[in-house]
Amino acid sequence: MRHILVTGGAGFIGSNFIRYMLEHSSCEIINFDALTYAGNLKSLKDAERNSRYTFVKGDIRSKEQVSETLRKFGVDIVVNFAAETHVDRSILSPDAFVSTNVLGTQNLLECCRVYWSLSPEDKHCRDYKPDVRFLQISTDEVYGSLGNDGKFHEDSPIAPNSPYAASKASADLFVRAYWETFGFPAVITRCSNNFGPYQFPEKLIPLIIYNGLHDIKIPIYGDGQQVRNWLYVEDHCSALCSVLKSGKSGEVYNIGGDTEESNLQVVRTILRLTGRSENLIQFVADRPGHDRRYAMDYTKLHQHTGWKPHCSFEEGLERTVQWYLANETWLNDTADRDFQTYCKTMYT
Ligand code: NAD
Ligand code: TYD
Repeated sequence: MRHILVTGGAGFIGSNFIRYMLEHSSCEIINFDALTYAGNLKSLKDAERNSRYTFVKGDIRSKEQVSETLRKFGVDIVVNFAAETHVDRSILSPDAFVSTNVLGTQNLLECCRVYWSLSPEDKHCRDYKPDVRFLQISTDEVYGSLGNDGKFHEDSPIAPNSPYAASKASADLFVRAYWETFGFPAVITRCSNNFGPYQFPEKLIPLIIYNGLHDIKIPIYGDGQQVRNWLYVEDHCSALCSVLKSGKSGEVYNIGGDTEESNLQVVRTILRLTGRSENLIQFVADRPGHDRRYAMDYTKLHQHTGWKPHCSFEEGLERTVQWYLANETWLNDTADRDFQTYCKTMYT
């Protein structure tokens, strides 16, 4: 049986991925998460009942904790979701982003290289245990911003504009270097904005739903015409599963949705779906370095694995709104964590 270490599994995409893999594979899953403000074990209540699921509290920056976990569970696949992920927080305090996203990823790579290498002391050894694999979860934001036309391809220049994006781009470069230097079997996926159940309410879509439900103004940065290439989280999980099955080491794969929506369109649709007034919309000062538009060309992934997204933006948004309405306790509990303090710092 394959043993997958999912780092950051208590976060939004990680928890959805664990649920997806428990349902669609026979792998054993080890969720390795430091439980920062964004990590929430309540998102995995159902998984806890599954004998193929284990939680380990740990930090990807710790050599001891990572190495011990790799050994203890005989891990042969690592999927690295663990990260500081919010652009606005990276503007308020970038240090944590360098520490977790860059140094944490490099530490994970090194611990895996040593554990999987057939001759760990020999830096020239390019032979690893059979079928081991490291999957780095990256983002479209490493490519920077697009104008009105065109899409990002895997060989588009890396041009990050926020400290978050710069830290993710740096991590990608370390993954690439481990492949080139050590023949380390790693793959990078870069995905567009995800949405769906269990997303922390500081991100746009759950923020709109939460504020709407509580009659709080919805802050829209600048003119609200920035465009994102939204992907329903389950489609991201199925793409990652395809990459684990048939992606090639040393490659980068873009993942994205088929629709592009401006932020203002997204807010208006959610207000309509939840029966709230557009008077809640409040235009506020723009985010510094705000990327105007993202769009991903995922042809390469489609050609290599046959993957394509199945859930349309409209259907995904309806499912997401229904999920939050049916899980208001999860939403309110999560919002009670660091969210209120953060909102005071960020929006007042
Ligand atoms: P999230 O903020 O919801 O979750 C991050 C998780 O990582 C949390 O559970 C947190 O506790 C954990 N974590 C943070 N620091 C850690 C550390 N030092 N050691 C161990 N665990 C730690 O993030 P998300 O939205 O689920 O994103 C997951 C990954 O996907 C990230 O790498 C992100 O860059 C990438 N990504 C996200 C999106 C998106 O739209 N959310 C799009 C593309 C790529
Ligand atoms: P976000 O969910 O933070 O994702 P990202 O910055 O990674 O794309 O934001 C999505 C878009 O929504 C982005 O253009 C910024 C915008 N936005 C607002 O206008 N107001 C807000 O309060 C937030 C959180 C985001």
